[in-house]
Amino acid sequence: MGSADSTTPISLWYRRLSRRELLARGSDLAVLSALTSGCASLAQQEQGGARLGFQAVTPSYEDTLIVPQGYRADVLLRWGDRLFSDTPTLDSEAVVHGELLKPTAARDQTRQFGYNCDGIGILDIGNGELLVCVNHEYPNPELLFPGYRAAQRAGEASTFIRKNPQCVEFMQATVGVSIAHFQFATNWQLKVDSPFNRRITANTPMELSGPARGHDLLKTHEDVTGTRANGTFYNCAAGMTPWGTYLTAEEGVDDFFGNRRAASFTSSVEQAHNRFRPRGLESRFRWEFADPRFNVALNPKEPFKFGWIVELDPQDALKPIKKRTALGRFKHEGATTVVAPNGRVVVYMGDDQAFEYLYKFVTRDVMDPENPESNVDLLDAGTLYVACFSEDGSGKWVPMVWGEHTALSLENGFGSQGDIVLRCREAADLVGATPMDRPEDIAVSPRTNKVYLSCTRNSDRGEGEVEFAGRVVDSSANWANPRTPNSWGHIVELSEYGADASATEFRWEIFLLAGDPEVGQFLTMLDPGSLVSDSDSTYFAGYSDTNDLSAIASPDNLTFDDAGNLWITTDGEQPRGNNDGCFVCPTDGVSRGAVRQFMSGPIGCEVSGCEITPDGKSLLLSVQHPGEGGTVETPVSSWPDGGTAAPRPSVIAVRPEDPRRKLTG
Ligand code: FEO
Ligand code: CA
Ligand code: CA
Repeated sequence: MGSADSTTPISLWYRRLSRRELLARGSDLAVLSALTSGCASLAQQEQGGARLGFQAVTPSYEDTLIVPQGYRADVLLRWGDRLFSDTPTLDSEAVVHGELLKPTAARDQTRQFGYNCDGIGILDIGNGELLVCVNHEYPNPELLFPGYRAAQRAGEASTFIRKNPQCVEFMQATVGVSIAHFQFATNWQLKVDSPFNRRITANTPMELSGPARGHDLLKTHEDVTGTRANGTFYNCAAGMTPWGTYLTAEEGVDDFFGNRRAASFTSSVEQAHNRFRPRGLESRFRWEFADPRFNVALNPKEPFKFGWIVELDPQDALKPIKKRTALGRFKHEGATTVVAPNGRVVVYMGDDQAFEYLYKFVTRDVMDPENPESNVDLLDAGTLYVACFSEDGSGKWVPMVWGEHTALSLENGFGSQGDIVLRCREAADLVGATPMDRPEDIAVSPRTNKVYLSCTRNSDRGEGEVEFAGRVVDSSANWANPRTPNSWGHIVELSEYGADASATEFRWEIFLLAGDPEVGQFLTMLDPGSLVSDSDSTYFAGYSDTNDLSAIASPDNLTFDDAGNLWITTDGEQPRGNNDGCFVCPTDGVSRGAVRQFMSGPIGCEVSGCEITPDGKSLLLSVQHPGEGGTVETPVSSWPDGGTAAPRPSVIAVRPEDPRRKLTG
């Protein structure tokens, strides 16, 4: 299967396991028990969720992809699938033999679908054709290069990189973004060699725009103007703008920079790094041992060019790609865009680290739906707000505007809006933002305009005063993060004042305290201001029938369908030790909060992406890092190719087997 030609129609790659097969395979009784115990009856399911016509998937521990009966899953894009016919598709059987150590591997990867697919954006270009934009988060060198994990265990990973500098060139080609042109007839088909197909990597030139453009902190040896950046990486979740551009979020970029302890920073550089720090010694991926750009002792300001929301036009490769600094620098998870009643564009964004914040940006100018060109630089001017939650269920969006907020002044070292966006976390500290349990993605209901924020988890919640990201923070539970410790994550529901996304006040309540509804206290009431001291206590928006609920934890990416159902993908430990998956629940009506598992991924993966095609029939999901926890030599997954193939992060499409049906209903 490793040599499948991307020009041929894509076959059915997933296999649904029957109960008989599960029983036959399940030598581990504990596993069997968990597999069968989570299966609610169809009658129970339909009673609880009339709009969702499927039977929940049970927790799985198998190296396979499972969707409900009546649905099919097709693999659209595997890591290494060629986007252009001048390049081979990756031979996944050859990875274990050192295929990716060859000097040609990096060049090929720049013409192939990238690694560790994450956020997805879909642009409908008519005639049943879509441009699918996909983020690639980070490399897993232990799954790419034979010998890497052994060297790492021996404390010699940096030596391995020095001896094999081509590994860094390869990894730099795996990250960034892929744009792939698809058409749909009776099945999905990649258009190899489409002029829209494109790879953006850690070395693709782009511009910095907005208030930090030209700032001293952005001026480097390579770019004395402080207006340019080379590449993008750790691209996590994403968003589409109403004018058809793709927003890709740079998240854990600090993991790519090392050698901070050997650096002697100026005071302004030290201050700007403090809340978003490069690694003290070796970086996580050790690129600095082959590329000095990632050594902060040599290039102290290079990290400031990362940690932004990046905007690109999938239809026009000649348009400059721009890092929109007005939206702040932090560990950006996603960028969810809505148009407020006054025509201003609002971008909701999470900062995914423990005790960080929820933000939104409101454009200064209004969008012109008739004239896309006039919206090109809308994201360069506007107001960046951070969320403050109150105990009584109210909340405020506090503007972080230089010259307006007394705390954001020269006395505290802020001399411009550029200073505020570059030291965004510090500015948010000073205005009293509410520290959250790792704010990830945000989705807005198309039916109610309510805003949903997933907080993936925070095991340090409730540990007293803790040092995180350069400051000491009170980790006590607060009303918007009410559970100590927060082992399983939660979802907060916000109602903007007047259902206006540009409002400065909101109401809020907890929508979900994730976990296993069969374990711990199952809450059916949870008023704002309530605190929850048991990490196993769960709350499903007041839904009261535990037989009708799936266990869920570590909510990450979110999206809505037209019917108002919230789709949730997970990234991290699940309550029954099972694989990550995709879940869905109604947000209003009698089934509000009835979370049901829709898909289970293979071993070691997180599930992300989570976008619905414009016809409402297909759900696109990223199956990221299958096989994580294993190595090239000792794999724990061979999904999707099977046999002795290396696992391949892939984008899948799930749709009803009946082509007349929509995803739900
Ligand atoms: Fe990349 Fe916050 O998940
Ligand atoms: Ca994520
Ligand atoms: Ca995550």
